[in-house]
Amino acid sequence: MPRRRSWCELRVSSPVGIPVSKILLAYSGVYGQTRKICERIQGELTSRGDQVDVVPLVDPGIDLSRYDAIVIGASIRHGKHNPAVLDFIRANLSVLEAKPSGFFSVSLVARKPAKNTPETNPYVRAFMAKLPWKPRLVGVFAGILDYTKYGFIDRNAIRFIMRLTKGPTDVSKTVEFTNWDDVHAFAGKVADLATGRMS
Ligand SMILES: Cc1cc2nc3c(=O)[nH]c(=O)nc-3n(C[C@H](O)[C@H](O)[C@H](O)COP(=O)(O)O)c2cc1C
Repeated sequence: MPRRRSWCELRVSSPVGIPVSKILLAYSGVYGQTRKICERIQGELTSRGDQVDVVPLVDPGIDLSRYDAIVIGASIRHGKHNPAVLDFIRANLSVLEAKPSGFFSVSLVARKPAKNTPETNPYVRAFMAKLPWKPRLVGVFAGILDYTKYGFIDRNAIRFIMRLTKGPTDVSKTVEFTNWDDVHAFAGKVADLATGRMS
């Protein structure tokens, strides 16, 4: 009886024989930093030949079954990820559990070295505790502080939090805390996830 082939054996190969992965990066964000992180990961993966789609998580047309690996990225706003992210994961749990999948979170709290891992970031811990989903890959990235984009209430609320947490309070400044080396390393792990090298 012929041996059943696993999902990764069935994937197409590039002309030079390297398997091409189809990867979905679905994001939830407000001011564009989570999308920017996805696009950086996309750039790294496409340069090695993979096919990567970056789409807003709310896109009703997403067909998860088309992908070899799925990574969801979401930012924090007022202490939590958008509830739509939880809804999306719950609605697609069986596909997310059947395929290699990952998650990353973007927040300002993650600028603190003591809160920038899945184990130490309070938002990621709280989020994961609400879900049966166990993604193989979880990342935590610091986001951007861009007072110039916020409305009056958000600007003052965030400035107050920055004062309490010893962050930048000059509202004329934009500070990007995202560590792009960490994003680069994460992109490598997404590649491993998609090729089945990450168990
Ligand atoms: C209105 C607002 C509320 C925020 N609340 C939090 C928060 O509670 N905790 C935190 O760590 N970061 C918070 N942030 C920071 C964002 O997570 C950070 O700016 C991130 O880069 C946003 O990514 P996005 O542009 O993809 O939404 C907040 C930002 C805004 C604009």
